[in-house]
Amino acid sequence: MHTTSSVKAVKGSSEKLAMMTAYDAPTASLLEQAGMDMILIGDSAGMVVHGYDSTIPVTVDDLVLHTKAVRRGAPNTFTVTDFPFLTAHQSRDVVMAAAGRFMQEGGAHAVKLEGSEPAVITAVSQLVQAGVPVMAHLGLTPQHVNVTGGYKVQAKEEAEAKKLLADAKALEQTGCFALVLECVPKDIAAVVTNEIDIPVIGIGAGPDVDGQVLVFHDAVGLTSGFTPKFVKKYAELGTLASEAVSTYVQEVKSSQFPEDVHSFKETGQLVGKAYGGAKR
Ligand code: KIV
Repeated sequence: MHTTSSVKAVKGSSEKLAMMTAYDAPTASLLEQAGMDMILIGDSAGMVVHGYDSTIPVTVDDLVLHTKAVRRGAPNTFTVTDFPFLTAHQSRDVVMAAAGRFMQEGGAHAVKLEGSEPAVITAVSQLVQAGVPVMAHLGLTPQHVNVTGGYKVQAKEEAEAKKLLADAKALEQTGCFALVLECVPKDIAAVVTNEIDIPVIGIGAGPDVDGQVLVFHDAVGLTSGFTPKFVKKYAELGTLASEAVSTYVQEVKSSQFPEDVHSFKETGQLVGKAYGGAKR
């Protein structure tokens, strides 16, 4: 299993870090079996699991619950939990309490904070000094969607690109062990990657970074509607699941399900296992 040291050691090597989101135990287990380097319990849960139209409503409680489930499914994978909207902008006590809940209750190995405002830099510094590993997140930061006015490619102008680089350096100096860079032109991402000594994990940041992160539901085709350009769909699970449940409805209505093989013949027969294979 990775540690912050082994994640940092990837910098400058030919290895790339593979990271994906998970919010529940079975998905986390799939990712661990696939050899995922890191699992992100992202506040994208708000959109892909809870049905909100942004990450803003997601709470510390929500992400503690998701983190616990992920750690049960992937006990041997390095996990990072997002700090939800506004959490990093509050008092030291609130910041410490959130990190404590993610790491002590949830079992996360690190936290991720979006942005580079003075309050975020202060929170990063407090966390690192207290022994909490922090992953930074720059470029498109979805928690700022109501200020930026939408999900857009960032740092296209020279001034913005310079600020991005300065912010990345500031977060590195404050002690972050890695940086997520979202939706920036690939040549800008390459510059940032070359200029800092911590691994840059890209999402919509092109190939010249130290690793990639995708949202699980996007990558396996479980989200409907608009697909961002940076997403590669490795499967169409949504279509498969939709066909499966339609067939189930038809078979229930036409009495094709359950068949003899799904029915008990004697009283007192032990069920053994039920509901997803869990022992009962
Ligand atoms: O919440 C999330 O899933 C994220 C990724 C998109 C990096 O922050």
